[in-house]
Amino acid sequence: MSDKNVVALPKGVKWVELDIFGDARGDLMVVEGSRSVPFDIKRVYSIFHTTYHMVRGCHAHINMQQLIMNVTGSYTLTLDDGHKSISVNFTKPGTGVLIQSLVWRELTQFSPGSVINCFTDKYYADSEYISNYEDFLALARNS
Ligand code: TYD
Repeated sequence: MSDKNVVALPKGVKWVELDIFGDARGDLMVVEGSRSVPFDIKRVYSIFHTTYHMVRGCHAHINMQQLIMNVTGSYTLTLDDGHKSISVNFTKPGTGVLIQSLVWRELTQFSPGSVINCFTDKYYADSEYISNYEDFLALARNS
């Protein structure tokens, strides 16, 4: 599935498309806390210098909201709510997803020069990750 024809998303996942302000000098994209996302932004991190066969993510969060936003290049994002799993190939700058807690995510098939920005409502905490898929399924299916 590509970012141009997304239909049904797993539970806790919302499609987000930001305006791109482009002119002869290049492109600009804006994310504002409590406007572009329904939370105050506590943390921003970026994923870059990846290659096609690298696999990132492979976890869910116990209690965290997050916007995963494509800046440039392309990659595939797999999202799984414990019942439904989809893979979306993001190709357009400014397209992404807003993800609630208990959604498993995997990032793969990065193009050269891919840049992904993530915005979250919480500071980083290792204890807040669910990194075992079976544990995730048990939690997600009982929530
Ligand atoms: P990791 O969660 O494995 O990245 P991904 O989900 O993209 O596969 O994080 C890689 C390393 O970066 C790990 O040592 C933890 C650290 N890290 C932070 O210190 N702060 C953060 O906000 C994030 C996301 C990761």
